[in-house]
Amino acid sequence: MKWIGWVAVGVWALAAGSVFGETQAHAAYDEADNGEVAFPEGYECWNHVKSIVVLEGHKYYKYMGGFHHVYANDKALDALKQNKSFPKGAILVFELRGMLTEDDTIAEGPCKAVGVMEKDPDRFPETEGWGFEDFKMKGGVRKRAVTNARKQCLSCHKSQKDSDYVYSKYSH
Ligand code: HEC
Repeated sequence: MKWIGWVAVGVWALAAGSVFGETQAHAAYDEADNGEVAFPEGYECWNHVKSIVVLEGHKYYKYMGGFHHVYANDKALDALKQNKSFPKGAILVFELRGMLTEDDTIAEGPCKAVGVMEKDPDRFPETEGWGFEDFKMKGGVRKRAVTNARKQCLSCHKSQKDSDYVYSKYSH
């Protein structure tokens, strides 16, 4: 009955191969193994902080024209609520979407980009303890867009130094 054992091992190896293979593929793309900010999987179900529609004419229209939602994980929400600086592991997400106007209504369009701030002073000492990433979404494919976080992100966010580089306030 030895062969039954080998078949079982073979099946397990195949199954494990596909599962681990997939995990590794994702890891190679997203993972913080090289110090990068990981894609915040499932952020749509995190804590909703606020939503804003930025209309043409606003000074930041070029950067965030359209709909956006801000989400926080639990650590970030606690800090926001208590108005204190953010602990390691706090993550904030800025989801930018298109804007559809129809029949006197404004609806959100498809996701264009997912901006992320992750607090980890050990990994991101150069950028005030925050890791910044911008995942641009095009045709269902996402692409990292930050090559110089100081220039692309902190240039604006440094104006919020007094609130630990975060603009959003919790107002629910
Ligand atoms: C032109 C100025 C500007 C630049 C550049 C900018 N941001 Fe922001 N960011 C803002 C503003 C303003 C808000 C607050 C929006 C609101 O009130 O909903 C914000 C909000 C955020 C938030 C939600 C947390 C918070 O601070 O309220 C994240 C996450 C974020 N930005 C990530 C990024 C990343 C990543 C980059 C670089 C790719 C970046 N931002 C570049 C102006 C900027």
